[in-house]
Amino acid sequence: MDVIVVKDYESLSTQACRMVSGQVQSKANSVLGLATGGTPEGMYQALIEEYAAGNLSFQETRTFNLDEYIGLPTDHSLSYHSYMYKQLFNHIDIPPENIHLPDGNASDLQAECKKYEAFIHEAGGIDLQILGLGHNGHIGFNEPETSFASRTHIIELDNETREANARFFEQKEDVPKRAITMGIETILSARKVLVLVSSADKAEAVKDMVCREITSAFPATVLQKHPAVTVLVDEKAALRLP
Ligand code: F6R
Repeated sequence: MDVIVVKDYESLSTQACRMVSGQVQSKANSVLGLATGGTPEGMYQALIEEYAAGNLSFQETRTFNLDEYIGLPTDHSLSYHSYMYKQLFNHIDIPPENIHLPDGNASDLQAECKKYEAFIHEAGGIDLQILGLGHNGHIGFNEPETSFASRTHIIELDNETREANARFFEQKEDVPKRAITMGIETILSARKVLVLVSSADKAEAVKDMVCREITSAFPATVLQKHPAVTVLVDEKAALRLP
């Protein structure tokens, strides 16, 4: 794991944008794995600015999001579909057919998981996967004790995850209880992985991800096995690192 510590959230966003831009500039038809949540918002904004400045085009880029809630209408303001269009896709030149998110309203959710894996495979696999980190070590929505061999699957969200995400909803009860997520094996199959973590409340989780023995009790530790992981953290999130 290559751990890079930068000063603050702004530097983290700029540096992450540089890495994603570099990927797209060196391979126009890159396949990007994308995350939602609070952490990558600054990176998406910086990518929009690079695009607006004429330094970057997403015409040939394909994207696959990590996850989507089950049962939330696609056009609900808090669906990950809505998040992605608002944070990035509405502001860049990516063709809609190149965008992929799991369908959390599919009538056959198991078939949807299989289809999603098949699409990733047909696209040639993910070149660069962006990840955030949950306090409990989740990556995507792979909660503690998820099998390391998992592919795209349905997951019950942990209480802690629903509490963390309640900040976006009016009340915790509104946070969906289930999601479709890429599996841990899906994530590990990406050629490169970039993990973004900001703020002091994630410092303990960052230490565990980097230093703890590999254990399904803290899924992010599995990234220690991947040959090309960059962990980009700001100073606050790096506080507990040795
Ligand atoms: C989002 C995702 C989650 C988040 C994680 C951190 O698509 O899969 O694993 O990356 O929960 O979220 P934030 O960035 O909001 O702290």
